[in-house]
This record gives sequence, structure tokens and C-alpha cells, in this order.
Amino acid sequence: MKNFIIILCSILAVLLIVWLVVHFNRPIIPGAEYQASVRDEKIKIYDVDDLEKQAAVIIPVGGFGYIRGGAETEQTMERNESAFDMVDIYPRVLMGVAEPDLRTSILGTDIALPVIVAPAAAHGLAHISAEAGTARGVAESGTIMSVSNYASSTLAEIAQAGQGAPQWFQLYLSKDDEFNKKIIKQAEKLGYRAIILTVDAPVGGNRTSDARNDFKFPLELPNVAKKSIKTKGQGINTIFSAAQNELTPYDVMRVKAMTKLPVIVKGIQHPDDADVAIWAGADAIWVSNHGGRQLDGAPSSFEVLPEIAKRVNKRVPIIFDSGIRRGQHVFKAIASGADVVAIGRPVIYALALGGSQGVVSLFDYLKADLARVMILAGAYNVEDIKQIKLRPRCDFYSSH
Ligand SMILES: Cc1cc2nc3c(=O)[nH]c(=O)nc-3n(C[C@H](O)[C@H](O)[C@H](O)COP(=O)(O)O)c2cc1C
Repeated sequence: MKNFIIILCSILAVLLIVWLVVHFNRPIIPGAEYQASVRDEKIKIYDVDDLEKQAAVIIPVGGFGYIRGGAETEQTMERNESAFDMVDIYPRVLMGVAEPDLRTSILGTDIALPVIVAPAAAHGLAHISAEAGTARGVAESGTIMSVSNYASSTLAEIAQAGQGAPQWFQLYLSKDDEFNKKIIKQAEKLGYRAIILTVDAPVGGNRTSDARNDFKFPLELPNVAKKSIKTKGQGINTIFSAAQNELTPYDVMRVKAMTKLPVIVKGIQHPDDADVAIWAGADAIWVSNHGGRQLDGAPSSFEVLPEIAKRVNKRVPIIFDSGIRRGQHVFKAIASGADVVAIGRPVIYALALGGSQGVVSLFDYLKADLARVMILAGAYNVEDIKQIKLRPRCDFYSSH
């Protein structure tokens, strides 16, 4: 009888440990290997802002801090979202819009909605399927996946998971030019449809959560690990140090000469820089402040969008990111000059919470939310949104 109770207790203890690992994805043994989520299911989304709190429970502390964190006081990061409240959308009635058309195209690729995935390092911090899982979800959602060269799946695995769905490859130029040429050729061969050259990270922003957590990547970043430096066990600043940090317009020209694919210059926050990038050959520009992860004290990305769009004057398409969380944000960014917008953190949180199906749930939510905003604002399609004039929010009493 005593033996039976001991065996029963042992079985129950093992079952409890398995349950804890699966449900909370926390390393329950101190010092155990990093445990990313293994979930694979649709998730219920009431508000994209909720995803961060939910993901905080299942992504290990260091990884979560790296994903969520902004630079220094995080004011720029916070303003990225709150700046959308500086303008309002006029509700419009009697416009006969019941089923708006969300489809659009960018650089010759048709997409189901004007929202794509921004490049972000190391999705493996959030889910064991890493970028391959994200790629499956994005392909099912009918939009574009941008892939960081600091991805934790290989470019080939991600291309295979996407099964022909559109993907763009993002590069931080390496100091090793042979590596640059080789990886761009590899991306071309695998069917990636554009090269994103990120230019806003000549040095990593001062991300205090990474410093506090002494965060080091617990996994290899296979696309850059072999040729340049080892990545497992390194912090982001060490990894950044392999990248070329003195970028000039000549580097945009160099990348243009390395590929026949369109080159998108990512990280533009000033109209003059947009001009320079276009002069150097950019086929599109990507207005972004890196999700507030670089220069704290910079304006929100949304605040600078109209002046940049005015200067670009439709010479090239504009992709916009930083702070997009809801349909009204997508609408306001497009009405302010963006052709499409991109999302960063919410995709990684959705991946952690539901794997590829979590990513599908996020895009389903955004499609429904944007469609509702378009109906209430009287916009039948994305071209209509571009014609809409937003109303600056002002103090009612001072303006009357
Ligand atoms: C965890 C994380 C990793 C990122 N890694 C990269 C990267 O490797 N390359 C890049 O160009 N941008 C990177 N970004 C910036 C995103 O592409 C994008 O600009 C930003 O996330 C948009 O802001 P949002 O997260 O508020 O949507 C990263 C962002 C996050 C949150």
C-alpha cells in the first residue's frame, strides 16, 4: 500500500510538471534551457494591447524583455501608439459601404490587407516553431512576411514554410561584403521578393530591460552565425558589432548593384533622408523608428509620416511601422501617406500565444477591425482611405 502511494504521488508529480511546462512555458528548474512556447491553436483577441500582458506570462523573462523593450525611458515607444490619438477620423454616413475591399498591392505583390509583418529578430524566443511558424500563419493570412537576417530559423526553412507566399528579406549590412553578396543571392534563389536594407541601427539603442536582465540570445541566429560571429550567448550589441555602422548613400547603391530585387530602405524619420534614399536608388522607403527601440526622445513615427509623405510625393511607395495596434491606426497611417503598414511586436506575441494559428488569429482580428473602421468612415477600399482627410484633434474651447 505504501509503495502504491509513493508510485501514485510520483506519477502525479510528473504530470504536474508536464502541465506547468506546457501551460506556462516557464523553466521550472532554475538554470534549465530556455523554454519557448509550444502552443498551436487559434487565440481569442479582444484587443491587440492585451496580447502583451498574456505573452508576458509565457515568454521567459529575458526573451520577453528583449521583445517588448524600447530605448531608455520608452517615451518614444509609448508615443508611437498614443500619437494616433492626435487626429480623428470623421464618421461618414449614407456612403453605402457595407463590405469594404481590404486588398491592395505593394511593389507588384497583391495582398489581402494593407498590413504586413515587420522584420524582427529571433522569433524563436517566443515559440519553438520560430519564423517558420510565423511564415505559415502569414501565408494563410494572405500577406507579406519580412524576415530579419537575425531570424532564428534559416532563410530556407522560412521560405519552405511560406510555400510560395510573398516574403521579403531584411539585411543589416555586414562588414564582410562577401557575406552580404552571398546572403542576398541566397534570398533571391529562395524566392524572396525584395531586400529591406535597415539603416537606423548603426548602434543598438539603450534598451534598459536587456541591460537589467543581462540578456543574451539563448539560441543561434543561423543566418549570420557561421560566417560572421557566434550568436548564442551574445547580447544584441555584440551581434550588431558585426554589422557595418558607417552607412552612407553609397551603401544603398552598393546593395542595389548586388541584386535585381527591389531595395527598400528601412528606418526613415526625416524628409531629407527620404530624399537621399530615393536619390541613391531606393525602390521604396520604410518610415519607422524601429518600434521606439533606437533613439528615445525622437518623435513618434506617425508624427513624421505626413511631412515625409509630402516630400516623397508618390515617387516611391511608403511602408510605415511603429505602434500599429488597431484598425484605426492602419486607417490613419494610410490617410497620412503610407501605402501599407507593418506590425512588429503583436506578431511575436500572437506566435507565442498560439503558434502559426495565433498569427492567423491576429490577422483575422485586424481584418475585421479595419473593415469596421472603413465602413464607419465611408471608405470602400484602400485607395479611398488615401483620399480621406483626418481631423486634427484640438481644444474645443480655444477653436470656437
Ligand atoms: C523583438 C524585435 C526585434 C526586431 N528586430 C529587427 C530586425 O532584426 N531588423 C529590423 O529592421 N527591425 C527590427 N525590429 C523593428 C521592427 O522591424 C519594427 O520596426 C518595429 O517592431 C515596429 O514597431 P511595433 O513593434 O510597435 O509594431 C525589431 C523589433 C522588435 C520588437
